[in-house]
Amino acid sequence: MRILSVETQTFAQIAADIVMDYLLSEPCGVVGFATGTTTSPVYDVLVRRLEEEGTPRFAAFNVDEYLDISPDDSKTCFSRMKAQLYDHAPPAKTICFRSDALDPEEDGQRVLREIDEAGVLGLQILGIGKDGHIGFNDPGTPWELETAVISFSPSSRAGKAEFWGGLDKVPSRGATLGVKGIMKARSLLLLASGESKADIVRLALEGPVTLDVPASVLQLHPFVTVLLDNPAAFGVRKGK
Ligand code: GLP
Repeated sequence: MRILSVETQTFAQIAADIVMDYLLSEPCGVVGFATGTTTSPVYDVLVRRLEEEGTPRFAAFNVDEYLDISPDDSKTCFSRMKAQLYDHAPPAKTICFRSDALDPEEDGQRVLREIDEAGVLGLQILGIGKDGHIGFNDPGTPWELETAVISFSPSSRAGKAEFWGGLDKVPSRGATLGVKGIMKARSLLLLASGESKADIVRLALEGPVTLDVPASVLQLHPFVTVLLDNPAAFGVRKGK
C-alpha cells in the first residue's frame, strides 16, 4: 500500500495526475469512478487535462448507483459523473448500474459482463465514507459479493440526507460493485480529504481488517495508492 499525504491545495491536482498517468499508460482500460465531494474537484482537474491533452480511449464504469429513481434524476451517480466528466471528455463506453432496474441483482450481472467485454477494471477510484464504506458497501456487507444490492441502514441514510435535501428524500437502496469486485480491480486509488475523515482513515489503514470497516479490506490488495490531504492523514503513521 502506497500512502501519500499532500497539501490540501495540491490534492486534486495530484489525484488527477495519477488517473491521467493510468489513462496514458493503459489505453483501452476500464476506469471505475466514484462520486462524492472528495472526487468532484479531482474530476474538474482531470477534465481540464483531458481537454488540453486529448482524451485517450477508455471505458468508464460507475462504482455505485442509487436505486428506485429515474435515470433522468440529476442526483443519480451516473448523472453526476456525466455532468462532471463524461460530457466533457467522452469515454468510448460508459458502464453503470441502472437506477430503475427492475431486477438489480440481474442488472449487476450485466454490469460485470460489460466490464469483461470492455477489458479489465484496471483502476478503481474510491472515496471513503465516515463509517468506512466504499462504493455503497456499508459496514457489515458481506465481502464475497462481486456486486451487491444494499438496503441502506438508518445511519447510512442519515449520512446521505444533506445531499438529498432531507432524510425522507434519500433512496432506501443502492447497487454497488461489491467488495469482491473491488478487490478484483488491478489497482485501486483511495482518496480522502479533510479532517472529518482522519479517524476513519487511520482505522481503515492501520486498524484490524474487519467487516465493520469495509475500507480496511484494502490492506489486503496488492496495488493500492492512498492519497490523503494532510488533514485526512493526521492520525496515520508516517513512513509507512
Ligand atoms: C458516497 C458514494 C461513495 C463515496 C462516498 C464518500 O456514499 N457512494 O462512492 O466514496 O460517499 O463521499 P464523499 O467524498 O462525499 O465524502
